[in-house]
Amino acid sequence: MAQRFISPSLLSADFLNLKKDVLMLNECADYIHLDVMDGVFVPNISYGFTIVDALKNIATKPLDLHLMIVNPGKYIDRFADAGVSMIAFHLEAVEDSSEASMQEVQRLIAQIKAKNCKAGLVINPDIAVERLFPYLPALDYVLIMSVFAGFGGQSFIPETISRVRRLKEEVLRLGLDLRIEVDGGVSKENIDALSEAGAEIFVAGTSVFKNESPKDYIAQLRQ
Ligand code: DX5
Ligand code: ZN
Repeated sequence: MAQRFISPSLLSADFLNLKKDVLMLNECADYIHLDVMDGVFVPNISYGFTIVDALKNIATKPLDLHLMIVNPGKYIDRFADAGVSMIAFHLEAVEDSSEASMQEVQRLIAQIKAKNCKAGLVINPDIAVERLFPYLPALDYVLIMSVFAGFGGQSFIPETISRVRRLKEEVLRLGLDLRIEVDGGVSKENIDALSEAGAEIFVAGTSVFKNESPKDYIAQLRQ
């Protein structure tokens, strides 16, 4: 069975007791997923540098940053300096199929790598996975949204499974060492199918934090 890495999303944690939740994740998660939203690329605002800087002081697991912002290049270095290990930005926030925008995507991937972070691209459910293909050789991971980015607690979109399979086929065809991550509505009910399709990193917010024992639930997701 393929290995599974669990990246719980702090968006569903208890913001009055963030420290408690991060210490719990230090014991049982593989990564800690951080959702940064700007109120422009998505119709929601989450948190920024102040929180990430503070979390880094206590987190012992790699921080997995999901940027839901326009103009990601402006903030990549600042987040990398805050100590995150992985940075993914949305393809559709940057690329409009023009040659210049495609070059900009490549430049941003290089910018992330130059800061010694793993570089990822994210796509929402309405973006064709084929649009990722030109960038796959340069990437460390791809994040496939299984809900529309912006809010926790949404229902998993089942078509994600065939999208992951299609992407995995291309990754294998190219012989790349690239991980597929999935984000949105992930739970015990869909993780087996996602894993079989080729996903290896699983973001889970609501299903983990609304469980009476997040720690046990994370262990169950990993099985
Ligand atoms: C949504 C975020 C997700 C979210 C996942 O925009 O990218 O990371 O926190 O939460 P659940 O698991 O509740 O869908
Ligand atoms: Zn996310």
